[in-house]
Amino acid sequence: MPSTQPVVRPVAFPKPLAYGTLALQSRYLLSPLAGYTNLPFRLVVRELGGLGLATTDLVNSRGLLAGNRKSLQLIESCPADSPMAVQIFGNDVTMMCDAAQLLEQRHGVESVDINMGCPVDRITKGGSGAGMMRECDKTIGLVAGVASSVAIPVTVKMRLGWDESNISAPMFAAEFEKAGVAAIAIHGRTRAQGFGGQVDLAGIRQVVEAVESIPVIGNGDVRCVADAARMLEFTGCDGVSVGRGALANPWIFRQLDEWERTGEIPPSGNFEQRLQLLMRQFAILEELRGTKSAIIIFRKTAHWYLKAMRVRAWLRHQFQLAKTRSEFEEAIKVIAAEGPIGGSGTDALPDMHIPVPSGPIAHW
Ligand SMILES: Cc1cc2nc3c(=O)[nH]c(=O)nc-3n(C[C@H](O)[C@H](O)[C@H](O)COP(=O)(O)O)c2cc1C
Repeated sequence: MPSTQPVVRPVAFPKPLAYGTLALQSRYLLSPLAGYTNLPFRLVVRELGGLGLATTDLVNSRGLLAGNRKSLQLIESCPADSPMAVQIFGNDVTMMCDAAQLLEQRHGVESVDINMGCPVDRITKGGSGAGMMRECDKTIGLVAGVASSVAIPVTVKMRLGWDESNISAPMFAAEFEKAGVAAIAIHGRTRAQGFGGQVDLAGIRQVVEAVESIPVIGNGDVRCVADAARMLEFTGCDGVSVGRGALANPWIFRQLDEWERTGEIPPSGNFEQRLQLLMRQFAILEELRGTKSAIIIFRKTAHWYLKAMRVRAWLRHQFQLAKTRSEFEEAIKVIAAEGPIGGSGTDALPDMHIPVPSGPIAHW
């Protein structure tokens, strides 16, 4: 059964996407989402197909060098989690270079991404994340330092600028290209916008026009194939990264990739497929963190899964109360037996609003 998404003409590309020598199988990438783009989520999304590259949540360069447990958990990976980039943040050039070198030594890390977009005060006040957009020479020096300290591709993910009167992304993109950066990902909002307002496609296009040959990845508010088509056509960007849209619909990469290759959009998961995916993601998390922690960590993710599956409110509530493996299994058993509201387990599910987090602020 085809998808219910509107049919749009695929965009033609002269060449596949590559970060320097790292060839990517698709131009649709998973954007880092702190707290969510962990190994279990990356693995299940990869298994659905169509994903070109996944990046970890942002990791503190200082914490990484100190061997901090949380930082090391964030970079956990395995051979199936490939190609994988680790995103680091910090404002000290030596530490950022050392962290990049440490990552390069680690098996499986194929690229390092520098976070220059995080709008959260705690990060920007120290001059990291979007705070880097307020310093010109120091930032260019830091990025050039990191790019020349490792052989694997280094990329930068940034915003359009600090605020609307300081649109600096095109200037930075041109400088970073000269400094040896392999690609730029651009979230089409300023730091001042946070996660509100509209993504500015004209702003993304300015970044595309500012570079000579490195790929530019557009990002922001892509929820379906038509959104990606609009971004690709209007901005001329070489790839699209999707964050929140993938939480609501982990099939989005497969839909995008197949649309580009065939013009057809395969359906996203039905009730049964989503239930299987939920169980698979939980099983990987349980293996990594143990049952008790996994049940707690998984609650927020399960909430979106169950909403998208059209599970009745009282059953969703019941699921959230589970504390043990047997309560978890019992809740799943009832959910599976009930099926979606007004349909069967194999029917296409209607597109519906999934309340994924609007931004990282609430969690930090
Ligand atoms: C909960 C949450 C966590 C995020 N964490 C990160 C992060 O760790 N690193 C980063 O570069 N961007 C982070 N972002 C920004 C996203 O990667 C992305 O740029 C933004 O959400 C816009 O894209 P989207 O509409 O496809 O989600 C985060 C966004 C959200 C909502």
